[in-house]
Amino acid sequence: MSELALTTEKLDKVFKLGGRKVHALSDVNLQIKKGDFISIMGPSGSGKTTLLNMLGCLDRPTYGKVILDGVDVTKVREKSLHKIRKYKVGFIFQTFNLMSWLNAIENVELPMEGTKKSKNERKKRAHDLLNMVGLSQREDHRPSRLSAGEQQRVAIARALANNPAIVLADEPTGNLDGKTKNEIVRLLAELNRKQGTTIIMVTHDGHVASRADKMLFLNDGRMLAKEKRGTHRLKDALKCSSCGQTAQPNDKYCPNCGQKI
Ligand SMILES: Nc1ncnc2c1ncn2[C@@H]1O[C@H](COP(=O)(O)OP(=O)(O)O)[C@@H](O)[C@H]1O
Ligand SMILES: [Mg+2]
Repeated sequence: MSELALTTEKLDKVFKLGGRKVHALSDVNLQIKKGDFISIMGPSGSGKTTLLNMLGCLDRPTYGKVILDGVDVTKVREKSLHKIRKYKVGFIFQTFNLMSWLNAIENVELPMEGTKKSKNERKKRAHDLLNMVGLSQREDHRPSRLSAGEQQRVAIARALANNPAIVLADEPTGNLDGKTKNEIVRLLAELNRKQGTTIIMVTHDGHVASRADKMLFLNDGRMLAKEKRGTHRLKDALKCSSCGQTAQPNDKYCPNCGQKI
């Protein structure tokens, strides 16, 4: 089995708009390992959504390859692409995109319809996932009765329903206030750390991006050569093994219990 969840080779996307060409992505080469938590930052219009759409097989590149969990999806026929989208990718959107007429548990069950799972198995998995995102008390609430942060938690549970190879999040905190924003990034970080979920999150918010393991930068459709370490594992490394208190980078001893770090 490949250690890579996703790679792209020389990815290009050109949109034709009237007589004009918009070069939305140019020569994007990515290597995402299983278990990575990567953020991609870029200003509005830099190609973030276009890139995620290529990675998640929602759109096809003009040139180049996307290899998802060992499969070159650019060679997969349109007819079979829906299966890749359904089983290999979990999507999280800025606007949550929940079905307003379904309650929380039904929204999470939805991607599992048509799979081998029985109705009971689907319900059980949706229940477990909602529990994992801290929403077991809200299973029968429709989206209109959930807060924005709760709706995004349901969307995260839904994205995980079919145990995808990769989760793609497009500005997942874009519609959330500061406190809720932090809670949602913390949840994504926890899923990555505890379950090993591979996550690519695009955002124009530097604070949110810095919570990942590695930050990549997109500008005008091109990946910049610079990369930055995020605080994700760094924070872990700075946790006191005795009491769990987070220390500062220069601390030699835990500020809470005095244990050597
Ligand atoms: N379907 C489309 N048709 C034409 N141009 C598009 C289309 N989608 C995106 N673009 C253009 O591609 C560029 C990148 O857009 P987008 O990926 O949405 O950026 P971001 O998500 O970083 O804000 C922009 O110039 C945008 O106008
Ligand atoms: Mg966008």
